Amino acid sequence: MAEDPMNRNSALDLALEFLKQQNELGVDTLPIHFAGPDRHGSPEGEFDDDLESLRAKAINCQACSLCEGRSSVVFGEGNPRADIMFVGEAPGAEEDRQGVPFVGASGQLLTRMVEAMGVAREDVYIANVVNCRPPNNRDPLPEEIEKCEPYLIRQIEMVAPVVICTLGRFAAQTLLKTTDSMGRLRGKIFDYHGVKLVPTYHPAALLRNAQWKRPTWEDLKLVRTLYDGTKL
Ligand code: URA
Ligand code: URA
Repeated sequence: MAEDPMNRNSALDLALEFLKQQNELGVDTLPIHFAGPDRHGSPEGEFDDDLESLRAKAINCQACSLCEGRSSVVFGEGNPRADIMFVGEAPGAEEDRQGVPFVGASGQLLTRMVEAMGVAREDVYIANVVNCRPPNNRDPLPEEIEKCEPYLIRQIEMVAPVVICTLGRFAAQTLLKTTDSMGRLRGKIFDYHGVKLVPTYHPAALLRNAQWKRPTWEDLKLVRTLYDGTKL
């Protein structure tokens, strides 16, 4: 007789059978996260492996000449299933040294901004448009952005956040395929392939222009509201 998938008893029987098998294999405790597939479409472990293999690929990347001057490839970091993802521009000197995004002066400000939203830094995911430090912190070139963008796109696809907050002009312009100024872009909600995207100023810009702190805080509150909206 064919199994009736709607038959609750058969589902419970299958679960019981699974647990018995696990127990015979010596498993006597259940993991805290009994994670089924969710919007990410794959079980937790498998999905983390994908981000790790992308990182492994990025670490050896020689697609543009930035590989010649770098000390480290600065791949994204954070919660691989974050609801909120921040996208910056490119690593600076400190990031290049440590191989971790946003750990220098603007990184410390970003951490405080995230915490002010009531969120821990380790709960979000933080990536950059370009994974290697441009010499003397110059702007990334169009060719460098083009070569590095697939890494960013794959990270967005795998983390599958509900909101992306872009930091500064390069991140917003790259993802939204626009040349509009930061002043025109910020404070608005865009759609990035079904993911809400809110552009705001780069923390490095806030360190130079204190008058942009207030609008940035408005943008971050908007990000928080969009995130909260998905939890209702
Ligand atoms: N809490 C999470 O779990 N993820 C986020 O991105 C933000 C808050
Ligand atoms: N500025 C960025 O845009 N990214 C970093 O990782 C650090 C500083």
